[in-house]
Amino acid sequence: MSVYPPVKVGLLGLGTVGGGVTHVLARNAGEISRRAGREILITHAAARNLDTTTANTTGMKLTGEALEVVDDPEVSIIVELMGGYEPSRSLALRALANGKHVVTANKALIAKHGNEIFAAARNAGMMVGFEAAVAGGIPIIKAIREGLAGNRIEWVAGIINGTANFILSEMRDKGRDFPEVLAEAQALGYAEADPTFDIEGIDAAHKLTILASIAFGIPLQFDQVYIEGIRRITREDVAYAEEFGYRIKHLGIARRDERGVQLRVHPTLIPERQLLANVNGVMNAVLVKGDAVGQSLYYGAGAGAEPTASAIVADIIDVVRTLTADPDNRVPHLAFQPDALSNLPVWPMAAVETAYYLRLQAQDRPGVLAEVTRILADRDISIEALLQKEPAPGASDVPIILLTYEVQEQRMNEAIATIEALASIRAPVTRIRLEHLDAD
Ligand code: HSE
Repeated sequence: MSVYPPVKVGLLGLGTVGGGVTHVLARNAGEISRRAGREILITHAAARNLDTTTANTTGMKLTGEALEVVDDPEVSIIVELMGGYEPSRSLALRALANGKHVVTANKALIAKHGNEIFAAARNAGMMVGFEAAVAGGIPIIKAIREGLAGNRIEWVAGIINGTANFILSEMRDKGRDFPEVLAEAQALGYAEADPTFDIEGIDAAHKLTILASIAFGIPLQFDQVYIEGIRRITREDVAYAEEFGYRIKHLGIARRDERGVQLRVHPTLIPERQLLANVNGVMNAVLVKGDAVGQSLYYGAGAGAEPTASAIVADIIDVVRTLTADPDNRVPHLAFQPDALSNLPVWPMAAVETAYYLRLQAQDRPGVLAEVTRILADRDISIEALLQKEPAPGASDVPIILLTYEVQEQRMNEAIATIEALASIRAPVTRIRLEHLDAD
């Protein structure tokens, strides 16, 4: 038996994840208190609709007002599961000012307001845990912040939105169309409340913002992320990519070199032999390249009640351990000491170099291909592979698919604009970036 009294936790939000946290803490209570050094009890909870919760709320003080929990002097740790920017931000800041530690699954909150929240936490001497904010149950924050702390991280590439990955996987495996699969993802509860956050890449950009900061020691800067979603990907693109030996994945990529950092979220062709290419359905995975460790891959459930609870409970245990043992010895929020963050320049997207997949709808007549390849050659863009498909029954134009070698985005933008201006080409040209994710 621990000599310390139980730590009291207040939950803000008792939906799917809140229910998961109560179940995991109750089911594993014995082992958790052996790990944490004392018992952890959820004693308070706030929810908009207490009637619909799946959580066992026996012994909890329940309220519809989050502020009541945040202001209750009995509570030591606030677990924020409401999502969104406000009132989550105000409640987190108030909890810290009230001398409470905060654990959150809210990636939007951390990506957008994390710099402010961490500064407030330091001033108040409190901790903020956010493992569940990136890739759900995968302990990727801990892996990069602690496990890889000896490395210079060179790049991170992740499948960090399960909904987008589910949609692309279904389009590939079953040849289904985008709108139909999206409707199923919503019905299955994978998608965010507003599915445009998943489809347009905003959710992935929130998570990439956090990964880039802890990987490179830069401040959180969500507004600098280049974001492109999956809405324009067709099942034909998925099938053509496959013919060339690639899969289309929606990746978050953060890369650093001496010129600065790249922060980008977009659909990407990757070689089918890559482990990342074989992460399917709602699963998440993050591939990290460190100078000492080389590539390491972290795979698991990126959403769901208990996988997310797994990360939240781990954060609660981290907080409780410092309460008990060594309160001053804390891992910095963004992995690097707060006064040692460096604000590296972020690359404009036009300067980024990648290879490309291009799909054109062209008139089926002599000379069209020559016009297109001339435009590319004039800009020193080299073609790696080319495929012309039969016209669809009754159609007058043909799809032409090209893979290029690496080229600066600016030059590709110019080439695409010139190709789209040709009378023989039906705009828009579909462009998907391609990454080999090789060892360097
Ligand atoms: N909507 C998110 C996803 C849930 O699909 O990955 C976890 O952040």
